[in-house]
Amino acid sequence: MPLPERRTVLLIHAGLIGSGCDAATTWLVHDYLSDAGVVPLLTQLRLHCASTFSHCLKTMTFVVRIAKAMEIDGSEHAILCVGALLHDIGKLSLPNSLLELPRRLRKTELEKVRTHPEVGYDSVSDKRILGWNAVLDIIRHHHEYLDGSGYPFGLTAPHISWRTRCVSVCDVFSALTEDRPYRPAMSTETALGILNDMVLAGKLDGDIVDALRALDLGGEVAHE
Ligand SMILES: [Fe+2]
Ligand SMILES: [Fe+2]
Repeated sequence: MPLPERRTVLLIHAGLIGSGCDAATTWLVHDYLSDAGVVPLLTQLRLHCASTFSHCLKTMTFVVRIAKAMEIDGSEHAILCVGALLHDIGKLSLPNSLLELPRRLRKTELEKVRTHPEVGYDSVSDKRILGWNAVLDIIRHHHEYLDGSGYPFGLTAPHISWRTRCVSVCDVFSALTEDRPYRPAMSTETALGILNDMVLAGKLDGDIVDALRALDLGGEVAHE
């Protein structure tokens, strides 16, 4: 395995172990990534946009902790981790200058960014691995909201799986608590307040946000 890919694997392992993932699940994640042949893609993402790769790692660490708290283990846990790692893989198709833009996106830029769930889905939809459909579901639907106001399809609650809801909650929380070029990271308290508002608005799954809130969230990091 080339050195850059080995570094990607090491960072993923560190994120898994550091967030309390057991050794068996860590190796299951490793096997899924190897069998699917997606380590080169994740390495490309890391080299293309380090902050997006860090965001994917960070999202995965919250998923690990929620799955542990909910006693989800084995392949189900591994699929959640792989889905979280790959959820923004479609951003590889976007120029770094757009991903790192130091201001809010304009309408046309936003439309371009909003293609990433489908582009990501297309980029890894050819894998023939047990459980891969669940990973694809996460990638394609992680920006859908339970009330139908998300994208790209405006799906409603009955059509959004628990796995995807879980990654969505962790994705939003990660994004809010990260420094972005156009704003500093929000505090845990502020981010949880926003998540709570999104639950009240019918967008996010309240049980998963409760599970996240119950974690010790102080100082959570998974940066490269
Ligand atoms: Fe995304
Ligand atoms: Fe994301």
